[in-house]
Amino acid sequence: MDINRILSDISENRYLISMTPAEQLVRLGCEAGMSRDTAVLDLCCGYGAMLGIWREAFGIRGVGVDICHEFITEGRKRLLEKGIDGVTLLEADAQAWTCDERFDFVSLSGEDFGGFNGTIHFLQKFAKPNGKLILGTRYSKTETPPRELVEFEGETLSLGQMNRVVRENGYFITSMATETHAEWERYIMWSARRNLARLRADPGNKAHREWCEKWYDTYFSFRRQYEGYVTMVIETL
Ligand SMILES: C[S@@+](CC[C@H](N)C(=O)[O-])C[C@H]1O[C@@H](n2cnc3c(N)ncnc32)[C@H](O)[C@@H]1O
Repeated sequence: MDINRILSDISENRYLISMTPAEQLVRLGCEAGMSRDTAVLDLCCGYGAMLGIWREAFGIRGVGVDICHEFITEGRKRLLEKGIDGVTLLEADAQAWTCDERFDFVSLSGEDFGGFNGTIHFLQKFAKPNGKLILGTRYSKTETPPRELVEFEGETLSLGQMNRVVRENGYFITSMATETHAEWERYIMWSARRNLARLRADPGNKAHREWCEKWYDTYFSFRRQYEGYVTMVIETL
């Protein structure tokens, strides 16, 4: 067993906040035709890990935008440590951010602006004509998700409903990767440790404690069973 390889994969995936693992992102980038000539904008990029992976794999040039100071600072440090150039990380509110450049790929994973349909429209603003969009989002494994899940998480479309929205916008899904239970567990427990750290720092915070209880309950009662995560590439004819 190659323990070093396993440990290095764990360390790599730790910087991917959402649930599509590094090897699947490489597959998607390959299928979507990323190359040295490709410019990728990743909105809500977290640590910029997706861009780092696509830079290493295909030589793309990347710009990442995230509102979180911690993620951008840590992400820049990590890219530097790994010797990855060609990726610029910017700390900004993606909803207010503007840019003159138009990109070959515009991605957003783990956040949405105005639901699934609204997010497609939002990403289009930054894409070249015929540019491809990459969306990473939760989906419901049933057309009628439990009320508790919708109340806690907001809109959760099924893959079929997402496909209809994609088609209504004139796009086709041309690559996709869905989560495995292992990815859910990596992501959920990463969130759990962050929630717990906040609670440790402020043990008297009753509202946060109650929210944490509800968050655990929702995961074990509903999310684990009914919710999945998909990253998809969509493109026009
Ligand atoms: C679930 S994380 C996903 C991060 C990254 N896309 C990944 O897959 O590793 C959601 C990210 O959205 C960022 N975010 C939320 N609202 C934002 C906004 N208005 N502008 C920029 N970033 C935002 C958060 O800071 C967080 O990094």
